[in-house]
Amino acid sequence: MHRGVPASVSSGVRGTRDFYPEDMRVRSWLFGKFHDAAKSHGFEEYDAPVLETEEIYTRKAGDEIVSQLYSFEDKGGRRVSLRPEMTPSLARMVMARSGTLPTPIKWYSIPQCWRYERTQRGRGREHYQWNVDIWGMSDIRADAELLSVMVHLLRSLGLSEEDIVVRVSNRKVLEQVLGDLGIEGDEFTETCVIIDKMDKVPEEKIKEMLKETGIDEEAIRRILSIMGVKELGALASELGEGSPAVQELTSLLTLCDSYGIRGWIELDTSVVRGLSYYTGTVFEAHDRAGELRAICGGGRYDRLIGTLGGKDMPATGFGFGDMVIMELLREKGIVPDLGHDVQDVVFCLDEANRGDAMAIAGRLRQTGRLVDLVLEEKRMKWALRHADRVAAERLVMILPEEWSRGKVKVRDISSGTETEHEPGSL
Ligand code: HAM
Repeated sequence: MHRGVPASVSSGVRGTRDFYPEDMRVRSWLFGKFHDAAKSHGFEEYDAPVLETEEIYTRKAGDEIVSQLYSFEDKGGRRVSLRPEMTPSLARMVMARSGTLPTPIKWYSIPQCWRYERTQRGRGREHYQWNVDIWGMSDIRADAELLSVMVHLLRSLGLSEEDIVVRVSNRKVLEQVLGDLGIEGDEFTETCVIIDKMDKVPEEKIKEMLKETGIDEEAIRRILSIMGVKELGALASELGEGSPAVQELTSLLTLCDSYGIRGWIELDTSVVRGLSYYTGTVFEAHDRAGELRAICGGGRYDRLIGTLGGKDMPATGFGFGDMVIMELLREKGIVPDLGHDVQDVVFCLDEANRGDAMAIAGRLRQTGRLVDLVLEEKRMKWALRHADRVAAERLVMILPEEWSRGKVKVRDISSGTETEHEPGSL
């Protein structure tokens, strides 16, 4: 830290990150993989402002996300918030053009999201989240396509089904169980938010929270026993073959088989997701070792536009954060060695050739080469070391003697061989 600089200035806001060039290289590499995977499945990119009206998030109270908002009053007295997630913005955009957009709408984005959360490994107060969503299709085929694009991304990062598991379930499982017990509407969504905490909070505490919502002991036992089911046959015998939840999960797993991604997917009825807007398929990706927080989460949310005051449209999608996945890739040692993107370093030994060096760099840049021109007066040794440090392919040297013969010297950095060329032939 520099003397005289307040700690808050030198270290930034707690839970936020700076991206130095070496971090930015890795981030751009990861985002490149997000773009490639989305495009390989025919998704189009969109974006929205990081600032939204607070109301878009508080319409549906009760979700943890509402208590984590970075919200404030702007100078015009309006309540606004940094977005904690992209889905409400997307719903707003789709709603504004409803009826004019050809369906299915297949869009993706990589927004920065802000949540006032407890910072811990893999969780910060800002993160980037790759969002992939399909609107206008109620068929389970859309949910399967999303699992396919997610697995495509994971494979492209060098991961396999031995590293990652995608746990899937369906909100209709709990809907059926709770419906049989007479629990519906807001009470149902409230129960989902509690059940979502099952892997973070001890079972006794979960039971207490359920009791507080008015669910009796017998019903709690039934809920917890169904939440332990990890096999389709067992689920069918609990809920009946005709159960919509069982039918949708059966179709989803069959489609995953056809996509060749079945090995990545496991049925796990304890997955319900913490956001109240989900209505059908729900899923979460985790590291198999179970050491890290969720890598990705999503599902079907057919009634979100309705809660914003518009006409509902079926939708399904997921959010995939940049933090946990990087933790995992680093732990596995599979982040590639990403160099500085320089092909040629252009250097003149004598100030008399400064203009010639600029002209040569300019010409090379126009041909599409990535050129770092040495702007300061430096010695030969420095230029050699610099070319090596930035992992350039060539060092183009303008030296007085060679220049007087109309030539420049070019050093191939990996082999160390030096050759003479006419400047126009580089
Ligand atoms: P979510 O489960 O809240 O879902 O977040 C999705 C992913 O974003 C998480 O699995 C994690 O990778 C990342 N994430 C969330 N919070 C943090 C944090 N504080 N720090 C680092 N990473 C974080 C949603 O946000 C839904 N809107 C996803 C969605 C899109 N559902 C349908 N479409």
